Amino acid sequence: MSFPANFMWGGALAANQCEGAYDQDGKGLSIQDLLPYGIRKGLSSEVLSDNLKLKGIDHYHRYKEDIALLAGMGFNVYRFSIAWSRIYPQGDEEEPNEKGLQFYDNVINECKKYGIEPLITLSHYEMPLGICQKYDGFRSRIVIQLFERYAKTVIDRYHDRVKYWLTFNEINVTLISPLMGAGVITPKQELTAAQIYQTAHHQLIASAKITKYVHEHYTDLKVGCMVAAAPRYPMTCDPLDMRTMMESQHELDYFIHVHAFGKYPYYAQKIWKENGVVLEWEKDDEMFLSHTVDFISFSYYNSKVVAFDESKYSLSNGNMMRGLTNPYVKVSDFGYPIDPQGLRFCLNYLYDHFHLPLFVAENGIGSYDELILDDGKMTVKDDYRIEFHKEHIKAVGESIDDGVEVWGYTSWGPIDCVSAATAQIDKRYGFVYVDRQPDGSGSLERYKKKSYEWYRKVILSNGQNLD
Ligand code: BG6
Repeated sequence: MSFPANFMWGGALAANQCEGAYDQDGKGLSIQDLLPYGIRKGLSSEVLSDNLKLKGIDHYHRYKEDIALLAGMGFNVYRFSIAWSRIYPQGDEEEPNEKGLQFYDNVINECKKYGIEPLITLSHYEMPLGICQKYDGFRSRIVIQLFERYAKTVIDRYHDRVKYWLTFNEINVTLISPLMGAGVITPKQELTAAQIYQTAHHQLIASAKITKYVHEHYTDLKVGCMVAAAPRYPMTCDPLDMRTMMESQHELDYFIHVHAFGKYPYYAQKIWKENGVVLEWEKDDEMFLSHTVDFISFSYYNSKVVAFDESKYSLSNGNMMRGLTNPYVKVSDFGYPIDPQGLRFCLNYLYDHFHLPLFVAENGIGSYDELILDDGKMTVKDDYRIEFHKEHIKAVGESIDDGVEVWGYTSWGPIDCVSAATAQIDKRYGFVYVDRQPDGSGSLERYKKKSYEWYRKVILSNGQNLD
């Protein structure tokens, strides 16, 4: 397999899943500080004391140790996100919080010390709670300006050290969960399709405006979009299943198309018509959307099986990209499908359709890991994780051999972190185990798992040594 010499190898984390220190150095509350319990239980102090995301893995105070661990695996890229609420605590202040900016100065400088290229996500499912409460997240156009102010602040501050930027994590998730994707507090069942598509429109404009800004001010920087890219499979070759597969794939491609081609795809008209959507456009929206990204990044955890009549089949487990049970693939501890071939298909499909370089921004397996004493050292024998990444990296290599341009691969959660969907700590993805337990206890010590040394060798050999 021919990984290019400048291939970027690393891992990805999100501020709200690892930093902790939710109220320190001027940080405001973020929507994620209350998820997932806040929405179910209401925004109470009980919720605040419950949510493991508030504590994370204390990366805020341990970033030096953590980055040293990443460097120890040979990372040349580290994808992380900035907590918007550290920079603009309520979201609509005139001036940024200097202490928040300094924290990311430190993180970036620490990466640079080891020759690690930072890849920054501007918003990883995160927005100051103040904005969510005041404006219902991206439902309001005002939030486009607030996002712009925040994004420009951090881009202006870090542009000399950070070349790669992503606007929104998994932007297509806004259709599935407007709360997670766009900070919309109104429950989804109370929103019309028109309101949801309008919210996504605002987010697409915000993304394009930042792309425009970067291209006009910093010509050497690269901006990418980021989507949750579970490729759709039809349950059978029944033409109706094929049609369902095509329509489901369109829900994802809709977002990539705008980022890659600067306008909505032809099938958007039909989606809008069928859902009673009449998008509200403002004067310059079309012009802003025409500013397209330099690359497409995506998360890949599994493929998603769909059918015309889903009631005939059982649902698989999975996060927001869950589909029907695929009888041909194995599953993880959490019942999520494991389908490395799907990653090769996905890379080929995206390259074929959108003609832009690709970046695998997330890929990994969440499992219950057991910390054991082995040869005098605490570790986890996570052969299942090695197997998972081996097969997926193989699929990336094969795609490169197919002719697809892939810039990099960042595994999800290289150091165990709190899960996005359920705020659990015991769904672990890392090559490094963190002693944080489900009840919030634990020493926070970091321990290298067996996969740590394996991934180090993979990177050292530029993907040639996968055994
Ligand atoms: C991705 C998100 O969808 O899935 C990450 O971008 C998340 O933030 C990852 O952590 C895994 O999902 P979970 O719910 O197991 O953490």
